[in-house]
Amino acid sequence: MWKAYYSVSSIEEALALLQRHQSAARIVAGGTDLIIEMERELHPRLQYLVDITRVPGLDQIRLEDGEIALGPLVTHNHVVGSDLIRRRATPLAQASWEVGAPQIRNRATVAGNLITASPANDTITPLIALDAEITLASAAGERRLKLADFYTGFRQTALRSNELLRSIHIPALQASQRGIFLKLGLRRAQAISVVDAAIVLAFDADRRVEAARIALGSVAATIVRAPAAEAALLGQPLTAETVANAAALAADSVNPIDDVRGSADYRLEMVKVLVARALRQLAADTQADGLPAEPPMLWGKNRALVQAGLPRQITHHPDTAIVSRVNGVEVRAAGGQQKSLLHWLRDEVKLPGTKEGCAEGECGACTVFLDDVAVMACMVHAPRAHGAEIVTVEGLSEAERLHPIQQAFIDEAAVQCGYCTPGFLMAGAKLLEEFDQPDSEQIKYSISGNLCRCTGYYKIVEAFHNASKIKAASDTG
Ligand SMILES: Cc1cc2nc3c(=O)[nH]c(=O)nc-3n(C[C@H](O)[C@H](O)[C@H](O)COP(=O)(O)OP(=O)(O)OC[C@H]3O[C@@H](n4cnc5c(N)ncnc54)[C@H](O)[C@@H]3O)c2cc1C
Ligand code: FES
Ligand code: FES
Repeated sequence: MWKAYYSVSSIEEALALLQRHQSAARIVAGGTDLIIEMERELHPRLQYLVDITRVPGLDQIRLEDGEIALGPLVTHNHVVGSDLIRRRATPLAQASWEVGAPQIRNRATVAGNLITASPANDTITPLIALDAEITLASAAGERRLKLADFYTGFRQTALRSNELLRSIHIPALQASQRGIFLKLGLRRAQAISVVDAAIVLAFDADRRVEAARIALGSVAATIVRAPAAEAALLGQPLTAETVANAAALAADSVNPIDDVRGSADYRLEMVKVLVARALRQLAADTQADGLPAEPPMLWGKNRALVQAGLPRQITHHPDTAIVSRVNGVEVRAAGGQQKSLLHWLRDEVKLPGTKEGCAEGECGACTVFLDDVAVMACMVHAPRAHGAEIVTVEGLSEAERLHPIQQAFIDEAAVQCGYCTPGFLMAGAKLLEEFDQPDSEQIKYSISGNLCRCTGYYKIVEAFHNASKIKAASDTG
C-alpha cells in the first residue's frame, strides 16, 4: 500500500521526490514489473510512487554524432517501430520485438527492463553486445557508466535510491558491423527467455572478423560475455569450422541453473545452438530476418507518444478522487486509488465488461485503450486514469451500431464462453485502425497477448478477416 502516488510534470520534480523519499520511493514507468512486484510484496519499504509517464519528450529516440540516445519512456514498441534502431541497433529491435505482447510493449520501457535486472530480461543482452552506456541522474547531477558495469550481481544494480535512469546511449552500428539477437522461449509470445544471445561483429574488407562482442542471457546470475569465443573469431572468416568452435567456446562461459523453464544441461546445449545460428545468420547477412516489416502495434494515432504534459505535479493520496473520461463520459470516483485500472473500472466505475483472467498481464482479457493506446488494465495503477481518456469494450459501439469487429464476432460465431471476447474485440478494434486489411500474420501478432481458454482461435481469426470487410463496406457505404 502506497502513501502517495505522484504524477510528475518534469524530471526535476521526479528527482526532488527521489531525493526526499530515497528508498521509500520508486519510479513508475510502464509499471509492468513494478505492479507485479508490489502485488507479491517484494517492496515492503515502498511508500511513494513517482509516475513519469506524463512527462513529454522522455519517449524520444535520437541519433547524434553516431550515438543513438533513448529516453526513459521509450517503450519496446517505440523501439520496434523505429527505423533507426532497426538499421543501426538491430539486436535491440529484435529483443524488444520479443518482449511480451503488443499491449505490454505499449507500456513497458527499455529503461524499466534494464533496472529490473533479471538475467532473463531481453534488452540487457543486446545492449551489452552493442556496448551501450547509461546516464543516471539525481538532484546532485549526472553520471555515465557502461551498462555492463551497472550490474553488480543477481538482480543487483549500481542505481542509488535517489537516482533515475535518464538515458541509454548506443554506438550506432557502422557499415562494417552487423548485429543480431536470438531468443529461445517456451512459446512465440509472452515467454521469458530460456536462453538468449546477442552478437555484434565488425568485418574487414576480406570478410574476416575484426571485432566481436558476444553476450548471453538467462544462463548465469547476470548477462555474461563469452571472451574465449570472441577471441577465437578474431581474424577469422565465418566458416562452418570457426562457427562451431566459437559456439562450443561460448558454452564454456556460462553457468546456467535448472529451473522450471529448462535444465542446466539443456541451456548449455542451447547456448551452442543459438550462437552457431546467430553466427551463420551474420555470415549470410540475414540477421534481420524474423523482424516483421509492418508489425501491429495497437498504439493508436499518436504512436503512444506522450502528448500534452501535466501543467503541474499531481499528488494522489489514498482518499483523493480520480477524475477521468471513460467511454466519452466524465467519471469521478472517490475510492479505489490503490487498485489496478482493471479493478478501478470494474468496481468503482461499474463497468464489468473488462475481464480479469490472470491479473499478471498474461491473458489480454483486460485490454482497454488508455489515451488511445491498447494496454493491459491489470498492469496500470488506478491513479494513472486521472485526467486520462479511457475506452472499454462498453464504449466500442457507436450509438446503436456495433463496431465491425463486434459484428464479425457474431457473424462468425467466434464466441464460446465469451470470457476472453472483450479483450479480443479491443485488440481487433485497434488493429483495424492501423491496417485496413491486416493479413493473417498481422492478425496473429495482434492477438498474441490474448488467450482463449476455449481455444476458439480459428473462428476468432476468421472474424478479424471478416471485420475488415465489414469496415470497408461501411466506410464506402
Ligand atoms: C505479461 C508480461 C510479459 C513480459 N514479457 C517479457 C519478456 O518477454 N521479456 C522481458 O525482458 N520482459 C518481459 N516482461 C517484463 C517487463 O514488461 C519488462 O521488464 C519491462 O520492460 C519493464 O518496463 P516498465 O516500464 O514496465 O518498468 P516498471 O515496472 O515501471 O519499472 C520496473 C523497475 O524499474 C524502475 N524504473 C523504471 N524506470 C526507471 C527509471 N527511468 N529510472 C529509475 N528506475 C526506473 C521501477 O522503479 C521498477 O523498480 C513481461 C512482463 C509482463 C507483465
Ligand atoms: S492480462 Fe490483465 S487480467 Fe490477464
Ligand atoms: S471463448 Fe471462452 S475463453 Fe475464449
